[in-house]
Amino acid sequence: MNKIETYQSLLPQIESLISGESDPIANMANVAAALHEAFGFWWTGFYRVRSEGVEEVSRAGIGELVLGPFQGPIACTRIPYGKGVCGTAWQRAETVIVPNVHDFPGHIACSSASNSEIVIPVIRNNQVIAVLDIDSTDFNTFDETDQFYLEQIAKMLK
Ligand code: SME
Repeated sequence: MNKIETYQSLLPQIESLISGESDPIANMANVAAALHEAFGFWWTGFYRVRSEGVEEVSRAGIGELVLGPFQGPIACTRIPYGKGVCGTAWQRAETVIVPNVHDFPGHIACSSASNSEIVIPVIRNNQVIAVLDIDSTDFNTFDETDQFYLEQIAKMLK
């Protein structure tokens, strides 16, 4: 199966997995597992926007990204607004594709094995509530096809 076929077979599976469940963490956990299994990415997971336990930023009412359900090696637990690829996707409220993470200013290297990355915001009521972050050990792994399908998956999580 090529990439498009894999996404096309995955989408209805994910839809049926999560449509009957309202708990966002349970749904994020299954989405991370389904994507990780299907594509064999290096790291696949979510960071959720939280305000508990955040020092300065929470006072401004912004919060911080906190590690959520994921598949893969251990990762950084907190990412501030506007920092790294994840914090940038959150700030812009749009998908960020990074062909070579070593060229991305401010990239947060949770793992030295990661070479390319895509981050998709999960948006509910016009607010970013989480980001879906996928890392690859190859360069140039992600393109508009990934963006198209992953944004559809992110919309299912609303
Ligand atoms: N590289 C990300 C941090 C998260 S890890 O890759 C899992 C970033 O720059 O936001």
